Amino acid sequence: MCAFAYQDDELYCDGLKVKEIVAETGTPCYLYSQKTLIDNYAAFDEAFAAINHMICYAVKTNSNLAVLRTLARLGAGADIVSGGELYQALAAGFSPEKIVFAGVGKTEEEIAYALKNDILMFNVESMPELELISTVAKALKRIARISFRVNPDINPKTHHHISTGLAQNKFGISINHAEEAYQEASTNKFLEIVGMQVHIGSQITTVEPFVEAVEKVLKLAYSLQEMGLPVKYIDLGGGLGITYKDEKPPTPRDLAQAIIPLIKGSPYQFIFEPGRYIAGNAGILVTRVLYLKETPAKKFVIVDAGMNDLSRPVLYDAYHEIRPVEKVGNNEMIVDVVGPICESGDYFARKRSLPAVQQGDLLAIFNAGAYGFSMSSNYNARPRACEVMVIKDKYHIVRERETYEDLVKKEKLPKNES
Ligand code: LLP
Repeated sequence: MCAFAYQDDELYCDGLKVKEIVAETGTPCYLYSQKTLIDNYAAFDEAFAAINHMICYAVKTNSNLAVLRTLARLGAGADIVSGGELYQALAAGFSPEKIVFAGVGKTEEEIAYALKNDILMFNVESMPELELISTVAKALKRIARISFRVNPDINPKTHHHISTGLAQNKFGISINHAEEAYQEASTNKFLEIVGMQVHIGSQITTVEPFVEAVEKVLKLAYSLQEMGLPVKYIDLGGGLGITYKDEKPPTPRDLAQAIIPLIKGSPYQFIFEPGRYIAGNAGILVTRVLYLKETPAKKFVIVDAGMNDLSRPVLYDAYHEIRPVEKVGNNEMIVDVVGPICESGDYFARKRSLPAVQQGDLLAIFNAGAYGFSMSSNYNARPRACEVMVIKDKYHIVRERETYEDLVKKEKLPKNES
């Protein structure tokens, strides 16, 4: 299903030569395959065809409007975590009745913005948040549809920075206190209980944590039903891992096979919030070799992308496959691939075997479609990369490379101050 493949020793994206695309756009450049986004969405959707479900793509994963628009047109909903993401989702054409809003720190302004747009539901993460939602709903003369994000205390066995369903994590309300929370919400006439959500982490590579989560939330849903507080939606969050190196994560079909027997026949509509699975392998980051540098200790390949463009290696010790855009022979060398930023954490690979590339060669950093551009910054005053999408047999610049002017656009020098 991967769009990025070699033909005659050259890397293509859906039939177009990567080298020719970046000859126009320059580097660093994020390159996305629309076909892969569509295929990944379809694979997820089809896997769960046997149950009543909705896919709310996690906007944070890759919020380029062209990516969002592609998914909105397929009928996807959106999982958002901020007013900014709501703006992006609406701008891309997602219908508000398919938007769910998570996050532990929703502001009054964000709540009002979401209420005015009549989103499907707030995934509420604390009782003070519930109170604020009800206050805002009352002021706006609206009824807020809510779901509690429950924290089931499950270890998803992933990097600790992206585990979210353990008791010590800041997310959700403890599943042990959920019944009281629902009871309290049920007495408030500005709130309508519609759902329950759980999201235990990201880059999960086995089905067991998902199964455990489903068992726990179903038990809670049934007990709420007995209490006369039925929910309509059970939102199982995102988290399905992908292969960066040698992981063998479950496919959506494997996941479906593990959990459908548990939920089939239940009266709920299930929501899934995949992000990485949809966008991860749909994007690469293309960068150019600036210098080869050899020190007494190491060989460095210095490239024109930096940790400001792709921060996953330094943040999570993440592995991203790196290969030359044009194959350059079979001589491999052991190198560190590093960027131009003034930090030793500015690397894409360490002690990696790579073909003997030369100054000026292009490298592709794979599986960069998820949490790549969306986590990029202007650190070291580096304009952010351009984003390009291949749609059918053409490529389109879907975000222009930032300019130096962009770097200072919002800044102001105080007047009459020395
Ligand atoms: N739903 C919620 C409420 C989330 O917080 C997330 C991701 C998702 C869905 C989508 O999860 P996915 O299917 O992509 O695993 N920056 C990190 C990943 C952080 C994930 C944050 N939440 C990384 O680059 O690995």
